[in-house]
Amino acid sequence: MPVLRSIRERFGAERPLDGVRVGACLHVTAETANLVLALRAGGARVDLCAANPYVTQEDVAEALGEGVHLGDYRAGLEAVAAAEPDIVLDDGAELVMLVHERLRGATEETRSGLVHLRATELGCPVLAVNEAAAERALNDRFGTGQSALDGILRATRLLLAGQTVVVLGYGWTGRGVALRARGAGASVIVCEVDALRALEARMEGFEVMPALDAAERGDVFVTVTGSRDVLRREHFLRMRDGAVLANAGHFDVEIALADLRDLAGDRVVQALPLVEQYEVEPGRRLNLLARGQVINLAAAQGHPAAVMDVSFAVQALAAVHLVQHELPPGVHQVPAQIDEEVARLKLASLGVAIDVETPEQQDYRGRWAPPA
Ligand SMILES: NC(=O)c1ccc[n+]([C@@H]2O[C@H](COP(=O)([O-])OP(=O)(O)OC[C@H]3O[C@@H](n4cnc5c(N)ncnc54)[C@H](O)[C@@H]3O)[C@@H](O)[C@H]2O)c1
Repeated sequence: MPVLRSIRERFGAERPLDGVRVGACLHVTAETANLVLALRAGGARVDLCAANPYVTQEDVAEALGEGVHLGDYRAGLEAVAAAEPDIVLDDGAELVMLVHERLRGATEETRSGLVHLRATELGCPVLAVNEAAAERALNDRFGTGQSALDGILRATRLLLAGQTVVVLGYGWTGRGVALRARGAGASVIVCEVDALRALEARMEGFEVMPALDAAERGDVFVTVTGSRDVLRREHFLRMRDGAVLANAGHFDVEIALADLRDLAGDRVVQALPLVEQYEVEPGRRLNLLARGQVINLAAAQGHPAAVMDVSFAVQALAAVHLVQHELPPGVHQVPAQIDEEVARLKLASLGVAIDVETPEQQDYRGRWAPPA
């Protein structure tokens, strides 16, 4: 994680978090450990609990030692809250909800967490890390785009080339899935409810059509809308025998499981460890992957470390921003200079240099104004 490493080195020299108590509720993994080490290098005391105890890497928790609160999810949250953090780094907003009245500030990693926070009268500022430009580009588009397909391939061992992949939802995440599927040689159909997104998909060269029409054409269906019942009875009854159904959205409600169960009755077999085959009509078998749970976590290993490197670099710089600035309570966007800095560090780690404006160009840009 070279971006986080360079931040850690700078933090070690500048100590921007000296004496700050950071409470974090994140997945206890090697990637998170790198974030914790960077924060500690900056002078922070870090208390960490697991956002999902099932994915905790015990050896990582042990290596981090002091300040890691394992065991039951709720007990972990309460232990971190009891450590009276100044700043909270959250994944799901539950820790922030417990202590926001007493915080200097917080960051939130997930979209669903931000929905809760925006509906709450907050006692502190929260930076929406999930919506930072660097995060969106790398995490949603390239991270999920790749890892969702990775999950589908691991579960099925399909050859994507020559298949028709239907992507339902052309948002930040869906366009990553669509791009990567096309790159692997699949024909891609996009289904949308938003006219502008649909237009973008069409201009990008994808076929765009209603899901009912796509149902008849697809070999592999990937839902990534954040909505529910995007694929349901009427679609299942039009799909081809052998179609594959996967969900890359956060919740397992995008594929209507109840409809599949209702149609298939007892004609369900476990075809492969992560593939349940539902015979929805005689001779029409649909392959549901990972019970409709988020495919890149259920069947693959989530985001590559290179993606978390960028997300956690944003988190680390956001924590410093909250310490150094007085922001009013409420949800705020991550400042553009943080995105810019993370992008520069990431480019440097890739060995990519870019151009620098000449003084004349800077002057020209500064003086240029649209005609009245
Ligand atoms: N698997 C992962 O690692 C991962 C990563 C990031 C986000 N997500 C999840 O993916 C989902 C989408 O996230 P996003 O950032 O792309 O959101 P987004 O809001 O940018 O995009 C969602 C798109 O789906 C479209 N949509 C909504 N209902 C639809 C329907 N019935 N049919 C077709 N299209 C529909 C919307 O118009 C929108 O364009 C969320 O649940 C999010 O939590 C998962």
